[in-house]
Amino acid sequence: MLTARTAVLVSGGGTNLQALMDAQADGGLKSGQIALVIADKPGAGAIARAERAHVPCAVIPRREAGFEERVLAALAEHKIDMAVLAGFLGILSGDFIDRFPGPIINIHPALIPSFCGKGFYGLGVHRAALDCGVKVTGATVHYVNAIPDGGRIIAQKAVDVLPGDTPETLQRRVMEQAEWILLPQAAEQVAAGIAEEKEKKL
Ligand code: GRF
Repeated sequence: MLTARTAVLVSGGGTNLQALMDAQADGGLKSGQIALVIADKPGAGAIARAERAHVPCAVIPRREAGFEERVLAALAEHKIDMAVLAGFLGILSGDFIDRFPGPIINIHPALIPSFCGKGFYGLGVHRAALDCGVKVTGATVHYVNAIPDGGRIIAQKAVDVLPGDTPETLQRRVMEQAEWILLPQAAEQVAAGIAEEKEKKL
């Protein structure tokens, strides 16, 4: 069966990458093949996760000159069809998005359009949700465009905010109950469309 060759871009601990790799192993991501991990931060925990799973991993520091060129070259070299931003903190330029031929999707730890956009990442997202007093939050998977967290929404999953929640306890619940479930499901949905297009071209 043809699959969508998938690259996962990471910056941190890689728990969302792990959810994707686990889904591939248990059949939850049957239309996608995780062919490459790109870490933009040397020493990120996600790198070790990729290595343990024997997935090729490129470390391309975000702060180095020519970052986007190097990422585009790695994606082309590995014949990548789609990219998944999983705990990726970089902001990709409109030029990058135009030059990469496939879809790019991202997981955001809130229900867009709440608590999203420039400066909303990591614990700060959950701190803002608690400061606002929302009773429900969650995660969103969306297509990436040049506007941070601005692309079309693919899927969302809600999570209750509980009395006494801290940003840390809320982040953990959103990861466990939303991100790690939603991202593989959304990646499979997008990959299935790509795989179908590949089949038609045979
Ligand atoms: C977490 O804040 C998660 O909510 C967000 O990115 C951060 C790290 O995720 N999506 P990961 O463990 O590196 O996937």
